[in-house]
Amino acid sequence: MMEKRQELFTGKAKSIYATDNDDYVIMSFRDDTSAFDGEKIEQLSRKGEVNNKFNAFIMEQLANAGIPTHFKALFNNTESVVKNMQMMPVECVVRNVAAGSLCRRLGVEDGTELTPPIFEFFLKNDELHDPMINEYHIETFGWAKEEDVNKMKELTFKVNVVLTKLFADAGMILVDYKLEFGLFKGEVILGDEFSPDGCRLWDAETRKKLDKDRFRQGLGGVIEAYEEVARRIGVSL
Ligand code: TMP
Ligand code: ASP
Repeated sequence: MMEKRQELFTGKAKSIYATDNDDYVIMSFRDDTSAFDGEKIEQLSRKGEVNNKFNAFIMEQLANAGIPTHFKALFNNTESVVKNMQMMPVECVVRNVAAGSLCRRLGVEDGTELTPPIFEFFLKNDELHDPMINEYHIETFGWAKEEDVNKMKELTFKVNVVLTKLFADAGMILVDYKLEFGLFKGEVILGDEFSPDGCRLWDAETRKKLDKDRFRQGLGGVIEAYEEVARRIGVSL
């Protein structure tokens, strides 16, 4: 059993703790829920536990599909043991259906199917409101090496194949999602989390929103929706 030590870092919804093994840290999912780059923050009870178990389930599915991830094991209801990586400050987004900032930026109608899917990079920087960037910014400013940028893109699309099917089989549309990667002993590995906090999921028939847009838009039933998604794909809560 790994031993939890001092807090290393605290983000808007998760905290990272050291362990007695330098190669591993503990990722702790809090109930804090944030939107608009931290402008709106509330505690939603059960969220830490739901997202921790949801993320563990998804990371295991991705690992089974050959995608390297940082996830090692659940530590307790709200915490997981993950590899201690050097994170790249870049967010990788894939969009299968138009929603959110894409619609605002380009005037595309919400719900438009995107064929082929669109890939976008954003800089992870709340003060700058996560601006959209491209490969040139990443290379010139040294946020990641060219080969690692290519690897992040390749893995993000691989995740799309696996998860689009997983959610479709459970009656949902994976509209879009955001991934973050890091380096562990030189290898590009999927980090952070995959949960309804960082993706858009719609019911395939009714198009009901089952993700963090319920929180952003004040629709209510946020955690109930996350639990519904978890139940449908077979996460045991
Ligand atoms: P966007 O429509 O706001 O650009 O977001 C696209 C997807 O990426 C959506 O599922 C939300 C997710 N996302 C985050 O979770 N955090 C972020 O900081 C950003 C920019 C996007
Ligand atoms: N996760 C980011 C935030 O907390 C962006 C968002 O989800 O709206 O502000």
